[in-house]
Amino acid sequence: MSNQSDRLQQVFAYHQATKHQFQAYANGPGYLDWETQPNPFRRYAGARLIALEAIEPADQPLYDDVFSEQRAPAAAAVNLRTVSQLFYDSLALSAWKSAGETRWALRVNASSGNLHPTEGYLICGPVEGLCDKPMVCHYAPREHGLEVLAEFDIALWNTLCGRFPEHTFFIGLSSIHWREAWKYGQRAYRYCMHDAGHALGAISMAAGGLGWRTRLLDNLGSDDLALLMGTFRDHDAEREEPDVLMACVPAELATQETSLPAASVLSFESLAWQGSPNKLSPSHLDWGMDKIAQQVSRPRAACQYRSFENPPLSWPLPSRPVSLRRVIRQRRSAVDMDGQTRLSRDTFFRILHRTLAVPGAPPFSALPWKSHIHLALFVHRVDDIPQGLYLLVRDPAQTNALQQALTQANPWHKPPGCPQQLPLYCLIEAETQTAARQISCHQDIASDGCFSLAMLAEYTEPLQEYGPWFYPRLYWEAGMIGQLLYLEAEAAGIRSTGIGCFFDDPMHEVLGLEDQKLQDLYHFTVGGPVEDTRLTTLPAYPLELS
Ligand SMILES: Cc1cc2nc3c(=O)[nH]c(=O)nc-3n(C[C@H](O)[C@H](O)[C@H](O)COP(=O)(O)O)c2cc1C
Repeated sequence: MSNQSDRLQQVFAYHQATKHQFQAYANGPGYLDWETQPNPFRRYAGARLIALEAIEPADQPLYDDVFSEQRAPAAAAVNLRTVSQLFYDSLALSAWKSAGETRWALRVNASSGNLHPTEGYLICGPVEGLCDKPMVCHYAPREHGLEVLAEFDIALWNTLCGRFPEHTFFIGLSSIHWREAWKYGQRAYRYCMHDAGHALGAISMAAGGLGWRTRLLDNLGSDDLALLMGTFRDHDAEREEPDVLMACVPAELATQETSLPAASVLSFESLAWQGSPNKLSPSHLDWGMDKIAQQVSRPRAACQYRSFENPPLSWPLPSRPVSLRRVIRQRRSAVDMDGQTRLSRDTFFRILHRTLAVPGAPPFSALPWKSHIHLALFVHRVDDIPQGLYLLVRDPAQTNALQQALTQANPWHKPPGCPQQLPLYCLIEAETQTAARQISCHQDIASDGCFSLAMLAEYTEPLQEYGPWFYPRLYWEAGMIGQLLYLEAEAAGIRSTGIGCFFDDPMHEVLGLEDQKLQDLYHFTVGGPVEDTRLTTLPAYPLELS
């Protein structure tokens, strides 16, 4: 294997090669080969399926309460009902859509092209009503059930999670890159990692509604994750790359622990694994997904991440009568924006505030690193805020560095009425709709909403400091911001949409970036949606399985 610095150069090269340019899009198939369209549902033939309960949303808890230390829900007991709710509110189906003969499922977690490369796993001890023995399960969203891949004895469970509080369990995520590569070719690895971030955000918010907190076990290596989820096994179905494992614990017992004992993890290799994964397509094209996954694979090692010099601050915000679980389950992408809806200034500030990693607040409390992503905003329709280009500095310690890097800005100033705790700055007052649309691959959703944005990541420095394996983690942070923006838009009675298609370097030029230190990783739009009335919406469950 090449050394770390070679691998880092390869990661930089992948990123560069998968930029969309005005003159040419990144390498992709250019058309959709319906013969090889991947099955969006992985199942493990021969594995026992445990049905989970479909727990419909209620009025409580309130969406805004989940972010508040004082008003957050008390920790629920871990049992069949609450584990069911956790999956129902994070990785489950949210609806079926149909048009003519065609029917497709939507999920609680967003996914580029609705292709859903992310698979979920549960690793738990005995759970009341769910299992008597510790087990590893794969989550099957279509059935809303858990496929039991392995059971193991309580002694192994006790040594595995000995450093964690009582009632801890673990959720793992993996990606089947082929699902996105089928449509998007070489750039697909980026979308898979955005989607993993959306799933992380969805799980952290669902856990918050149960009074639990999630935390990435980010000192584990990729090989550890493969052992724990069972994805190391040989099979002839599409490869599943393990991404991350997180601990889920009662909020009051939230822990900073980020690893599991190596010897216990190794024991998973010799468990009596059950079930064979299904093949998702009859044939495949190689878009280099295994190569980039290999270059960013994580070795098992303790990593001391840089923490905030001054963590972001909260300010008192009244709770609205909006149900968290309804917002979570009704989340949808806007396929079109109306070009008219305006946002109040206070709602705009509230949405931006929620994207800050305030200590202890979900979903960002799941991440062990300080925020590395800042938001460059195209403000189109916000009352009492001039149209223009703005910047939300998610780590205020970066303010000076950003001021030097963004050479296209006028002297920065805080917009009128902006709370002191919100590090939001106006860079240029101007009409920004044309630029926003052009840069987001000419998509009208970027110009017809209230605002759209580019997620600007501190890029070369963290990758040089931590290693090439930090590359996907920047995308996870971006995806998590995205999932939060979706929920914030729903809570405000509007909608949003992730935008993975954008022209990277033209966006850097708009900001006047002169080197690679900051890179644009993801776009988003927020505004008044236009419904597509040609589609019929059907309930997520129950459904007759054909
Ligand atoms: C990473 C990512 C990139 C996306 N890129 C685009 C895009 O460029 N244009 C667009 O119209 N929608 C985009 N979407 C929205 C997806 O198409 C949408 O999430 C998917 O169809 C599922 O629908 P839902 O969000 O309503 O569940 C993106 C979503 C994600 C998560």
